Amino acid sequence: MNPLNELLQSRLFEGPVPAAEVMALGLYHPEHGYYRRQEGPWGFDGKDYYTALDLGPLLGQTLALRLEAAWERLGRPARFTALEPGAGRGWLGRDVLNAVSGPFAEALIYVHRDDNPAARRAAEEALAPFLAANRARFAAEAEPLESFTGAIFSNELFDALPAQPWRWDGERWTREVLTPAGPEWQAADPGEAGAWFAARTDGLEPRDGSIWCEALPGLVHALASPLEAGLFLTVDYGEAADRLLAKGADLRRYKAHSVDGKWHEDLGEADLTADVDFTRLATLLEQEGMTQLSHMELSKWIRTHAPLERWGAEWMTLPAPERMKRTENLLQLTLPDMMGSRFRVLEGWKGRVE
Ligand SMILES: C[S@@+](CC[C@H](N)C(=O)[O-])C[C@H]1O[C@@H](n2cnc3c(N)ncnc32)[C@H](O)[C@@H]1O
Repeated sequence: MNPLNELLQSRLFEGPVPAAEVMALGLYHPEHGYYRRQEGPWGFDGKDYYTALDLGPLLGQTLALRLEAAWERLGRPARFTALEPGAGRGWLGRDVLNAVSGPFAEALIYVHRDDNPAARRAAEEALAPFLAANRARFAAEAEPLESFTGAIFSNELFDALPAQPWRWDGERWTREVLTPAGPEWQAADPGEAGAWFAARTDGLEPRDGSIWCEALPGLVHALASPLEAGLFLTVDYGEAADRLLAKGADLRRYKAHSVDGKWHEDLGEADLTADVDFTRLATLLEQEGMTQLSHMELSKWIRTHAPLERWGAEWMTLPAPERMKRTENLLQLTLPDMMGSRFRVLEGWKGRVE
């Protein structure tokens, strides 16, 4: 039997287990958790899901421009630290480091932060030349972060934090739990989550509901407080709080490139994920002293910040298969049914502007 299912069965003797606890066990059990296993989940054949980084370097190239603009805005400091929590294989950092040049490249230090052992091994390979040149380094999740100037960026970090689904049944709040008979919605006190949801709707309908990520304030604080000045940028799927509520946001399971709602099955062998509440993330960042917070669809962010004309001209000089790959990469990031509308980019700013 799957060791995590065994653990869960013994936990179920004590009573129903909230879905967020099942998600925490499935993803982060120190030995058998999906993000603590020796083999990584990312990629195409034989893997569970891919991210924007599997599609090519364009997300990293656009991000590199946003980081360079932040460096300019800070008055070109001699050192610009770019911290990536949930950095996975380090491919986004690699793509950024490959894209930068000149004085900004000299100032930029990339910090990979993710305790996932499979990710760490892949990142050692992807970042090898930059590690050797002291332009990149690893930081363990428990390592206290010293104050720095620069940026914090992430791709698909916040969707991987354990989250609890809540649903309004017409009279009261219910939360999704696992019982020996399977998943159920049971009445419970939503506490802070209930007040948050209530303030984001002008009338709840039965089946309205959203997810609540308990760990979000702690993680936002741990990341944002050492940033003295600079940019916060995150790419993820999700919506504003009112839209999540109206949609009845829920947990999803990814396995072998299929998605379903069976979050309680194949624990440790399937990805579990939840939409990000961008309104709450922005509110928490504001409480950490960030300003100018905004989020937009990935497609709009790419169209606003990517040098499309320059890319078009440069790609014309590439061999046809390379040119096709770049074009496909751009389409994946911008077409609504691909990543363009499903993903959003949130940006915020902290501290001084020169
Ligand atoms: C969905 S994966 C995304 C990986 C990578 N950013 C990508 O796009 O391919 C989420 C990653 O976040 C990591 N993670 C979760 N919580 C974290 C935390 N508090 N600090 C750093 N990494 C974390 C997990 O170990 C996992 O590797």
